Amino acid sequence: MVELAWRLYPDAALALDEAAWRRCSQLVEECTGEYYESEQLQRLPLAEEFGCLVLESIRRPGRPLGLLFSMRLDETTARVLLFLVESNLQNRGLGEQAWEEFAQLARQDGVDWVQLEVREDNLDGQRFYHRFGLEAVGCLESYYGDGGDGMLMRGPLMKQTPQIG
Ligand SMILES: CC(C)(COP(=O)(O)OP(=O)(O)OC[C@H]1O[C@@H](n2cnc3c(N)ncnc32)[C@H](O)[C@@H]1OP(=O)(O)O)[C@@H](O)C(=O)NCCC(=O)NCCS
Repeated sequence: MVELAWRLYPDAALALDEAAWRRCSQLVEECTGEYYESEQLQRLPLAEEFGCLVLESIRRPGRPLGLLFSMRLDETTARVLLFLVESNLQNRGLGEQAWEEFAQLARQDGVDWVQLEVREDNLDGQRFYHRFGLEAVGCLESYYGDGGDGMLMRGPLMKQTPQIG
């Protein structure tokens, strides 16, 4: 079994090379259907202390297999911008690992709340976030590029892992 780990890149724009950013762009398209140029991703205002978590193989660092990108909205709130795991690696607990890592780092940095947008038809994504204490707090009409509606979710950054199931 290949060893995988979530790694924090505090200075992501510089620390990840061009090929890694291109891979991020591909991953986002594969997992969400949304297309962003690698340069657009590179310019995201990710929080230095917790905003760029990248899943990679320990033997092959710098080739992203998953992303949890987030920014600081205000002193106590973080916003998750992108969260995904390569499709053949989903449902093995790697998303949960990322969330725990993110929650711990963000809490250490004074963040108590998290919010994000998710497609209204992405029930798996919503179930995942519910498990971590997030609730729907608003509808975002025609929020996505293809006209799809979004949902705004928000909740406290939990201190404990919820039970699976
Ligand atoms: C959302 C996402 C990031 C979660 O990542 P993941 O690695 O699949 O997450 P986990 O494996 O921790 O949890 C997913 C499910 O697998 C289950 N699971 C966790 N560990 C498991 C294991 N060892 N064996 C079997 N199932 C497991 C979890 O209980 C969870 O079940 P749920 O669907 O009832 O919530 C991922 O599915 C993804 O990239 N989706 C596409 C993009 C997306 O929708 N992003 C979020 C919205 S923007």
